[in-house]
Order: sequence, then structure tokens, then C-alpha cells
Amino acid sequence: MSKQIGFNLFEMNTVGHISHGLWVHPANTRHRFNDLDFWIEEAKLLEAGLFDAVFLADVIGAYDGYRGGPETALREAVQIPSNDPLLVIPAMAAATKHLAFAATFSTTYEPPFAFARRASTLDHLTKGRFGWNIVTSYLPNAARNFGLADEVGHDDRYAIADEYLDVLYKLWEGSWDDDAVVQDREHRVYTDPSKVRAIDHAGPFYTVAGPHLTEPSIQRTPVLFQAGSSDRGREFAGKHAEGVFVGGRDLQVYRENVADIRRRAKAWGRQGSDIKTYASAVIVLGKDEDDAARKADEFRRLSSAEGYLAHAGGGASTSRRTRARRRSWTSCVPRTRRAATTPSPAAGTTTTTPPSARRSTRSPRSTAAPSSRRATPCRSPTRSRAGCATPTSTGSTCGSS
Ligand SMILES: Cc1cc2nc3c(=O)[nH]c(=O)nc-3n(C[C@H](O)[C@H](O)[C@H](O)COP(=O)(O)O)c2cc1C
Repeated sequence: MSKQIGFNLFEMNTVGHISHGLWVHPANTRHRFNDLDFWIEEAKLLEAGLFDAVFLADVIGAYDGYRGGPETALREAVQIPSNDPLLVIPAMAAATKHLAFAATFSTTYEPPFAFARRASTLDHLTKGRFGWNIVTSYLPNAARNFGLADEVGHDDRYAIADEYLDVLYKLWEGSWDDDAVVQDREHRVYTDPSKVRAIDHAGPFYTVAGPHLTEPSIQRTPVLFQAGSSDRGREFAGKHAEGVFVGGRDLQVYRENVADIRRRAKAWGRQGSDIKTYASAVIVLGKDEDDAARKADEFRRLSSAEGYLAHAGGGASTSRRTRARRRSWTSCVPRTRRAATTPSPAAGTTTTTPPSARRSTRSPRSTAAPSSRRATPCRSPTRSRAGCATPTSTGSTCGSS
């Protein structure tokens, strides 16, 4: 039986995402990333090229681990300057009909309530084409930008993320009934109050009253992507994710990694097939093979070793520092949040509702929401590899079911 492959452009609202140094190429237009027209043009190109989705990465700190500061990253445009990924999505959605969007947002530094509202708004504005790449953030500078003295420990970040998701499921799935908005002009009732409820969440990290401020969007919960590769990261993916970026040095290792994540999904009461997996590839297009090879050589010559070192250095210093100091969440949490925080739970002990359970909290009408409008990685049966175009100097990820 043939399988369908999904294509996903790996993008970022910045100049240099993962192909460092290429911004100096005379034909490179990444400096236009501040211009909304750049994103509208890209969205139209992707839709015409039959891409399923564009995936916007994000970081909320500078890469300052290499040479003891952010200077190399600044000089080489390594993910700085960069803009908020969420804000370009409505314009890209307005210019397209089928392209789906996945944007990265971190669960570690901003409380969940405001993000729940932003995500629901984007799901409304894209007519159900919004997805979220869940990250816990690995840059120490990100921690310092949000009032923490140091990075939150790796497994604590995942424990926070589990509760963050728990709050979001309650807001997205449980706070409003599908038929809450009645718009009854005659009786002067816009929303039936008996069909909207508080969530009254109280957990180790978050206290959220609710109700959710946004009425139910097409998907309610956006498509959830994740890319963790650690044991804790895979467990999180098995529990929550619907699209997972999987690594592997060869096909055999890739297969084992996929099997492992699907096994974990089953342990959470889900189907292995609930998860689509993505591999990544850098694709260089040319008129023919010689032309593509010539371009690839040119790009290699322009690549910046310093840029790649600055990129790798941001994460490397994180893990060294994390291992060395191993601070607990409670010692790092800002004063404003500390008041509502109880001691850090042991890694892996969470109260999060797994996806199988959260889906069942939907009322029958919402469960019947047209699946074709979900921003799933392989939405359109008409999409095929033929005709795909990817702008050079960005990556692309391919998924299969
Ligand atoms: C394809 C891909 C995309 C990623 N995008 C982001 C991103 O946009 N922002 C981010 O902070 N981390 C990103 N990551 C990093 C992961 O979220 C995660 O932190 C990393 O894989 C380590 O996970 P682990 O600690 O569970 O091993 C990405 C990873 C991969 C493989």
C-alpha cells in the first residue's frame, strides 16, 4: 500500500535560521523578513508548490555561549535579529486556502492563559489551519530575559510543560460548549452563560481560574508538534504530540526512534498512528542535477563556520551549565509566580490529561469538526511531491504517516 508523504517548510522569522552564512549570497532576500510582503509571497509560493505546511521555529534568547557573548551571533545573523513567529501567520493565511501553519512557542517562561487565547485566535483567523510546536527552550539567555537567574533544569522544564498542556486542554476543550454562542437578538443573549465554565486549575506551577476568553475555534486544540529527543522529551511526545520531528543517523535508527515514540503513545492510551513523524532534509533545487550541484557547492563555500559554532555554542553551554548547577525550578521562579508555587514535583509525576482523554471531553458536535480543516501534516490528498519548490537556504521537513 502506498503511503502519503507530507512536506513542511522549516522556517523562522529571521535572517539566518539553520543555514548560516548564506545571507551574503547576492540573490539572498532574507533581509526582507521584517516586511509582511515577504511572508505573503512565501505563503503563495508554498501553496502553489503543494507544500502541506510551513513550520516557524523560534527562540526567545540570544546565542551567547560561543566566545562568551552574543557578538558572533549578531555579526553572523544567527537567529538574531528575529521576530515573533505568531504575528505573520494571519497575513499568510489570508493569502492562501490550504497551507497549514505551525509556530513555536515555549512553555517555560510565560504562563499558559495568554497563549491559550492567542492560539485560539490564530485557529479562528486561519480557519483551523494552526499548529503549535511545543518547546521548553534551551538557551540560558532566554531564562535571564524572563526574570530567572538561570535556566530551569531539563526535566523540570518538561514537568512544567505537562502542567502547561493540562491548563490548555482545560481552556480549549472544557471551558466552552460548542453551542454556547447563541447570538439570540430577540432575547438579548449573545452567549448562554450556562454553557461556559471556569476551569479552576490549581497545580504546582499554575493557578488559572478561567473561563477561556475565546469561543471554540474549529480545532479547539491546535495540531501539536514536538521535537524532543531525550527520554523525557520522547515521553512528552508520546503523551501529547501529533507531529514529531525524529532524528536518526540511518534508516534503522530512525525506524527505532519512531517505534519508540509510538510505543510510548500506546502506553498513554493512544494509537501509534496518532503520531506523524518528520525527518529533515536540506534541499537545493536546480534546473538539473549539475545546476543543483553547482549551487550546493556555492552555498558550501559561503557557509559560515563561525555562525554554526555560535549556533551550537548556545545549546552546549546550556547543558554544561545545567549539569553543573542543577538548580530547581522553585529557586529560579520569579517572585510574582513564586507565591503560587509549591515544591517542584519529581520528574515524570504530572496531572496532565493525555490526548485520548482530552478528546473525549469534546461535545459530540465538536468531535465531528471536519477533519479536513485540521492543520494535520498531510491534509490534502491531492498533494504530492511533484511540483514542490523550496526557497534555497532554508530546510524542509518531510513527514509520513
Ligand atoms: C526540527 C526541530 C525543530 C526545533 N525547533 C525548535 C525551536 O523552534 N525552538 C526551540 O527552542 N527548540 C527547537 N528544537 C529543539 C527541541 O525543541 C528540543 O529542545 C531539543 O530537540 C532537545 O530536546 P530534548 O531535551 O528532549 O532532547 C527543535 C528541534 C528539532 C529537531
